[in-house]
Amino acid sequence: MALLEVDALEVFLGPPGRETRVLRGLSFVLEAGQTLGIVGESGCGKSMTALALMGLLPSPSRVAGRVRFMNSDLLRMGEQERRGLRGRHMAMVFQEPMTALNPVITVGWQIAEMLFIHRGLPREAARAAAVELLERVGIAEPQRRARAYPHELSGGMRQRVMIAMAMACRPELLIADEPTTALDVSVQAQILDLMLELQRDHGTGLLFISHNFGVISEMADRVQVMYAGKVVEEGLTASVLSAPQHPYTAGLLQTLPDLGRRVPVLPVISGQVPDLARLGPGCSFYPRCIRRAANCLAAEPPWQASTADAEGRVACCHV
Ligand SMILES: Nc1ncnc2c1ncn2[C@@H]1O[C@H](COP(=O)(O)OP(=O)(O)OP(=O)(O)O)[C@@H](O)[C@H]1O
Ligand SMILES: [Mg+2]
Repeated sequence: MALLEVDALEVFLGPPGRETRVLRGLSFVLEAGQTLGIVGESGCGKSMTALALMGLLPSPSRVAGRVRFMNSDLLRMGEQERRGLRGRHMAMVFQEPMTALNPVITVGWQIAEMLFIHRGLPREAARAAAVELLERVGIAEPQRRARAYPHELSGGMRQRVMIAMAMACRPELLIADEPTTALDVSVQAQILDLMLELQRDHGTGLLFISHNFGVISEMADRVQVMYAGKVVEEGLTASVLSAPQHPYTAGLLQTLPDLGRRVPVLPVISGQVPDLARLGPGCSFYPRCIRRAANCLAAEPPWQASTADAEGRVACCHV
C-alpha cells in the first residue's frame, strides 16, 4: 500500500465568495521510501501543496479532494488527530529555518521536545537523544551547540537543526519545501546529501519541492511539473529530463545552465505566470507557449500518456 495517495486535491485561499483556487486538482502516489519531486516557478502552488498536506494552510482557506496517508483520510480528520500525526509521522523542512525554529528556546531542547512530546521520552533521555541527532546531522561539538539559540548558528547549521527536528521521531513522510534555496551552493550540496542519507537509513517517503530542476534531478525518483496550480507533466525524473513532453517542462529545462551543478534557475521562459483568479477555460500556459495552437484556448488540454507508458508518464497538452 502506498504511503501517501493524493487524489484531486484542491486548495482555495481567501474568504468565501472571494476565494482563489490556487491548487487545481493535484493527484499523485508516494510509496514508502521513495522521493517525489515537485518542480515549478514561483507562485505555482508548491508551498500550498506542502501546507495542505501538513494541515498548516493559512486561514481562511478550504481544501477539496482526498488524501490518504498511512491508511487514514487526512482531510476528514480533526485538528487534534492531525496534530498527533505532525512531527510524529509526517514532518516538514521549510526554506527558511528561522521561521520554523523558536528563537527563545535552545536548539537542543527544540529537538528534545519532539521526542518528549511525541515519543514520551523522559527529559534527560530526550536531551541526550537530541545531542546524538545533532551529531547525526553533522554538527560539530553537538553538546555545546545543543545549548545554542537559533540566531547563534549559521544558516546551514540551522537547516541541519531543522532536519534533525524533522527526523527526530523518524516520520514516515518528510516534506521538504525548498530546503536549500537560502543556502550557498557548497552548503546546499551537503544538506541534500544529508537528506538522502537519512532517507535511505530510515526508509522515509520524501516529497521534495524545488524550483530548481537540477536539485530535483539529484533527489527525486519521480517528478511532477507544476504550472499555475496544476500538474502539467509527470514521470520518472530521468525520462522527464531527457525527453520533456510538455512545452513548459521543456522551457524550464532550457533555463538550466548545467544539470550537474546546483545553481539557482533563472526564470527565463518569456512572459509571466498567470493570475490564478483570472484563468480562462483553455490551457493556462497558452500565452507563453511556443507550440500553442488554436484548440489550446478552447478547453483545458487532456492528459496524454506518452508512448512508453509503463512508468506512468503523462503530460497535459494538446500538441
Ligand atoms: N495568503 C494567501 N492568500 C491568497 N493567495 C495566496 C496566499 N499565499 C499565497 N497565495 C497565492 O497562492 C499561489 C501559490 O503560492 P505558493 O506559495 O504555493 O507558490 P510556490 O510555488 O510555493 O512559490 P515559491 O516558489 O515562490 O515559493 C500564488 O499564486 C500566491 O500568490
Ligand atoms: Mg513556496
